[in-house]
Amino acid sequence: MTAEVGLGAPETGRNKTLVIDFGGPNVAKPMHVGHLRTSIIGDSLQRLFRANGWRVLSDVHLGDWGLPMGQLIAEIGRRGIAPIYFDPKFTGPYPNDSPITMEQLEELYPAAASACKSDPARLEEARAATAELQAGRPGYRALWRHFFNVSEQGLKREYASLGVVFDLWKGEADVDPLIAPMIEDLKARHLAELSEGALIILVSEPGDRKEIPPLILQKSDGAVLYGTTDLATIVDRVRSHDPNLILYVVDQRQHMHFEQVFRAARKAGLNGSAELEHAGFGTVNGPDGKPFRTRAGGVMKLYELIAMATEEAGLRLQEQGLAAAYPPQERAEIAKAVGLAAIKFADLSNFRTSDYIFDLARFTRFEGKTGPYLQYAAVRIQSILRKAVAEGYTRSAPAVRSAEERRLLLALTSLTDAMANAETRRAPNMLCDYAFALAQEFSRFYAAHHIMSETSTDLRAARLGLCELTLRVLVKVLDLLGIEVPPRM
Ligand code: ARG
Repeated sequence: MTAEVGLGAPETGRNKTLVIDFGGPNVAKPMHVGHLRTSIIGDSLQRLFRANGWRVLSDVHLGDWGLPMGQLIAEIGRRGIAPIYFDPKFTGPYPNDSPITMEQLEELYPAAASACKSDPARLEEARAATAELQAGRPGYRALWRHFFNVSEQGLKREYASLGVVFDLWKGEADVDPLIAPMIEDLKARHLAELSEGALIILVSEPGDRKEIPPLILQKSDGAVLYGTTDLATIVDRVRSHDPNLILYVVDQRQHMHFEQVFRAARKAGLNGSAELEHAGFGTVNGPDGKPFRTRAGGVMKLYELIAMATEEAGLRLQEQGLAAAYPPQERAEIAKAVGLAAIKFADLSNFRTSDYIFDLARFTRFEGKTGPYLQYAAVRIQSILRKAVAEGYTRSAPAVRSAEERRLLLALTSLTDAMANAETRRAPNMLCDYAFALAQEFSRFYAAHHIMSETSTDLRAARLGLCELTLRVLVKVLDLLGIEVPPRM
């Protein structure tokens, strides 16, 4: 069922623009469980701000311009996989088809990274390749373009299966042309200075209780860093969209990085009228309380995780005797929707900065505060309303004649507050709380009253009206959480 535009909207965002930065996967690496939270929380926040009337631009901000790119290039050079890209005499044009597949990248990248960790000479090679890539060496740029294209396709598929959509598919590399002029400007205004060969901006401020190290803009070999592309990206976003707020939905562990970047941006006046804010989040842990891994101890890929959740959801549906008689295709779709709802709701229902333990058996339960419970609540109301239509029963405006009806109606009318408060705190968990409280009020109402069996036409119509309003609101909140309601279960 689709959610209604405008329903509940507090219009806190009238005439305001938000750029929201989340997702942030790195080129040439598969998406893994570490990308789950930024995607789920970021998506919920973009839906919420949009619903509240903001103009929203979401940017996936791919990691595509740092040392990992140089590591890959150096590794490919060593292995002699695609020699023309390294041949200084070759003047192009370079082939359109990529010399490497995504599978190869997935093998090459960790190999290169671990070689650089254990061997300083390899690290030096990778650094040199990074600097040359950034300086514009044609063969390296061409190779980089292939990494980018090959990865982008795979990433788009992954995000589609999560139900997450971005307005902008930009990356760190997109701001490359803005970096040199930005650095010139910062130097001219004496904001950037040299320190041990590197160009830095001092960002410590009087009153700091701990030391905030300077932001490094450029190393002595000319290579730029993560902070440099983030700073130039602020320039780009301010120029292109003149936002009121730029929100970064990124792991809490990057807090210092953002503090440095934000301070540098404000010091240099690069942020226009935009507030800069890091909405951090905690980690997803395994039952042992350590970051979640596969049984074999490796990093869990995102599609493996979704497949696991779908399977578990399928078992739960079976246990509940749900969807049993439906065509296999529909059953599979329902299982996928329930699995995703389970993961998303469990993730969102904690305040974002807390860590949580990944426990599929708990997340997929149809009782208690879970995604599947709420989905099922909505599905049940849909089925009541369908039956009512089949019986030719009419609906009217909800009326309050009992304590349960009053409480339900009050819960329904507090949607707007819930949306406004969740925005203020950047806290989708408040929407989770709201959805669960609403579903509970509905259950109480449903247990206490006749609806289909009500003999008074007026009473029945008013109660059906209340059912319908509850459904609309529930579908709306679930949509804000990125959760779909299947037509039936
Ligand atoms: N690619 C980064 C990482 O994997 C995340 C990017 C977050 N966004 C940003 N503007 N820095 O850690």
